[in-house]
Amino acid sequence: MKTKVICFANNKGGSGKTTSCSNVGCAMAMLGKKVLLIDGDMQLNLTISYFDEEQALSFATDGRNIHSVVKEEGDVASAIVQTGIEGLDLVPSSSLMSGIEFDLFPKWQREFVLTKCLERVREKGKYDYILIDAPPTLGGWVMNILVASDFVVIPVEASPWGLFGLANMFDFIRQAKRLSPATELLGIAVTKADERKKYFKQTFETLKTLDNARLFENYIRVDSAVEWSQDQSRPVVIFKKTSRSAVEYMNLTKEIMSYVDR
Ligand SMILES: Nc1ncnc2c1ncn2[C@@H]1O[C@H](COP(=O)(O)OP(=O)(O)O)[C@@H](O)[C@H]1O
Ligand SMILES: [Mg+2]
Repeated sequence: MKTKVICFANNKGGSGKTTSCSNVGCAMAMLGKKVLLIDGDMQLNLTISYFDEEQALSFATDGRNIHSVVKEEGDVASAIVQTGIEGLDLVPSSSLMSGIEFDLFPKWQREFVLTKCLERVREKGKYDYILIDAPPTLGGWVMNILVASDFVVIPVEASPWGLFGLANMFDFIRQAKRLSPATELLGIAVTKADERKKYFKQTFETLKTLDNARLFENYIRVDSAVEWSQDQSRPVVIFKKTSRSAVEYMNLTKEIMSYVDR
């Protein structure tokens, strides 16, 4: 099977990108798939989802991070670290990602740098899926992420401001499709849902009616187990398998895989 690249992107911060990327990736690995996670955000949240702070910072100095790879236009294989979870590897981020726009700017075909960094690993076919966690921006780096991806998942927080700016995200994906026609918007995943709130239902119904994007049936409710698991540098799907959010992320993962693998 061909390696499929899926990114989690939304210019809005706090929408559940990192939590979703980490848990969907881990759930895929638990379902027997080989998965590579890439932390594309200078906040290192995906990296610290698996490592303590000291270890996370050490990857910034030993070159095992996505910033070094992209800056040197190298092979992403040189920056892969093991998460300790069977079938799940990670390319850490670095705080130097703050300068990525300047690093990309002078490069030839600058929107395709990440695509080229992933080429070898994709060709080898070791991984079933590569999942990329995008930062909450819309610039040259996120364009690189979209262009390198086969599928885009947009995590959206079910809150009044969660939908604000979604149109910009759709526009940005349309621009990416001009450079990479194969990039497909897979769907919207609602996160941090609170079913007791009337607002949630309204948001969910609004998202259902969008004709340019699918809304995943499985959504993720607010669950303190998510935060406890993050405190322990483990995704909730493996930290507390019976928790509400673990079950929901497992179901969302199966739904995503059903579309991606067909
Ligand atoms: N289902 C959930 N229940 C409770 N808290 C959540 C849930 N999903 C995410 N969070 C919390 O919300 C915050 C933002 O989530 P995160 O995944 O970091 O979003 P983003 O990567 O889009 O900025 C984090 O502090 C995270 O712990
Ligand atoms: Mg994040």
